[in-house]
Amino acid sequence: MHLTLLGTGTMAEALGTQWARAGHELTVLGRDPGKASALARRLGGPATGSRPPVAHGPLTEAGPFGDAVLLAVPAASAPGVLAAVGAGAGTLRGRTLIDCTNDLGPGFTLGTTGSPSTAERLAAEAPGAQVVKAFNLCHADVWRLTPPVFAGRALSVPLCGDEPEAVARVAALVRDLGCTPVDGGGLPRARLLEATAAFVIGLWVGAGADAQAILPPVEFSGG
Ligand SMILES: NC(=O)c1ccc[n+]([C@@H]2O[C@H](COP(=O)([O-])OP(=O)(O)OC[C@H]3O[C@@H](n4cnc5c(N)ncnc54)[C@H](OP(=O)(O)O)[C@@H]3O)[C@@H](O)[C@H]2O)c1
Repeated sequence: MHLTLLGTGTMAEALGTQWARAGHELTVLGRDPGKASALARRLGGPATGSRPPVAHGPLTEAGPFGDAVLLAVPAASAPGVLAAVGAGAGTLRGRTLIDCTNDLGPGFTLGTTGSPSTAERLAAEAPGAQVVKAFNLCHADVWRLTPPVFAGRALSVPLCGDEPEAVARVAALVRDLGCTPVDGGGLPRARLLEATAAFVIGLWVGAGADAQAILPPVEFSGG
């Protein structure tokens, strides 16, 4: 697969490292071309030998964006980044747009309360793009694990998206990490996934609680 990373920070590096290792062709685009070039070098430059070279450029680079695009910037910056890559004019049409953002306010509140989810807003900003919400529930350090397996069980990754081929593409990228994809439903359910992130991050970080322990095993799910 050819993947484009929009953003050069923590999530772009964590997920990009895994996908480079899995043999995908990568392009890194960032507002700071120096950071894009440095990340591209870390992901696949000559120092890593066998991996394909990673292309890089500024956000204004005119594609091609490949099969899937990871949007790894702050939620508040995401519309501007989509505008910078020409998404409003259809540059992401037919491509899978992976939204890993979390719009968290003070006290681990959800920035989008009372309005459409970030994923739905991004779909509106990028006509024709096939948006899939994914990878927003766990810290980047989890995505760096090879593989993320806890107590002998591979991490499950919920995906919310409307187009089956886009969800299947992201499911393959989830499997590349050694994780198990879980169908979270269509894009309207992304708001629940975003709210879940706000809630569990509030438990983990805000309350110091074991958020994983709030749910019983599946055999108890139906009473
Ligand atoms: N870190 C995590 O553990 C984690 C886990 C799950 C989800 N997320 C979500 O993933 C997204 C990315 O998080 P991150 O931790 O990777 O953030 P990060 O390390 O701070 O990187 C953010 C990236 O976005 C770029 N950026 C920021 N504002 C921009 C703007 N106005 N225009 C263009 N580019 C801009 C930054 O560029 P500069 O370097 O030039 O500032 C940087 O490349 C966030 O929405 C976050 O909520 C993060």
